Amino acid sequence: MRPINLLFAVAALMFIAAPVANAEEAFLNYKSYCMQCHGMHGKGDGVNVPAMNVRPRDHSDNKYMMTRTNTEIFKAIKFGGPAVNKSVKMPAWADTFTDEEITQMVGHIRTLCCEREIIRGVNFK
Ligand code: HEC
Repeated sequence: MRPINLLFAVAALMFIAAPVANAEEAFLNYKSYCMQCHGMHGKGDGVNVPAMNVRPRDHSDNKYMMTRTNTEIFKAIKFGGPAVNKSVKMPAWADTFTDEEITQMVGHIRTLCCEREIIRGVNFK
């Protein structure tokens, strides 16, 4: 293969692979940093729950999550609960994740609550 073709091939592969890699990274981050409170599937049933006086949000609750915009979810993750008038028991993650990683995490949370809406192409704002 000529070097220029190889370059195109690699670029094309990166373009195809990037969203998959991002989704996987978001899932792994969720598993490492959020699961202890929000639970494996985001149902708000993590191991910390019995010791908490505020219930972690159930991210699979379609009805509630559809009342939240992506911007609000982003803010809650980056700056913590108080940034969206929620409990301080929801920590801020600005020092842990880049904005891009948080955006990917918002996308992951949408797959937990709102798969039908994703398929319908709803704009979460
Ligand atoms: C120490 C426990 C804890 C951890 C760890 C945690 N959360 Fe939360 N989270 C909470 C609690 C408690 C609430 C509910 C706050 C409320 O309803 O007042 C919440 C609420 C939220 C909300 C909903 C805000 C809203 O609009 O209702 C989002 C989104 C969220 N968490 C995302 C995450 C993500 C993403 C992570 C991992 C990076 C994470 N949380 C880690 C405890 C936690």
